[in-house]
Amino acid sequence: MMDDAWRTRCDMNPDDKVCYCYNVSQRKLWNYARRNPLRRASQMSECLGAGTGCGWCIPLLKRIFEEAQSETVGDLILDIDAKEYAERRKVYIRDQAPKNKF
Ligand code: FES
Repeated sequence: MMDDAWRTRCDMNPDDKVCYCYNVSQRKLWNYARRNPLRRASQMSECLGAGTGCGWCIPLLKRIFEEAQSETVGDLILDIDAKEYAERRKVYIRDQAPKNKF
């Protein structure tokens, strides 16, 4: 279950996709990061392959990982909503930007 603090401080909804390549929602990633003893951000990809496609979502996977590692919930503030996030990914794909890495 996601904390209210997370939901209210993030413009993306829990069921919005973070990883478009593998159709992984923010909720799945957040729960995965909090329930598993992860040591590196790259281990987020063990959650249904998130981040192993185009790489667009990797910066957000890192943020979710870092937030889950900290004891303070609610520090993740995204300044974009789901629609803008999706639009920016289209540009990332179209322009063949350098691939994000863990
Ligand atoms: S959107 Fe996550 S790897 Fe492409």
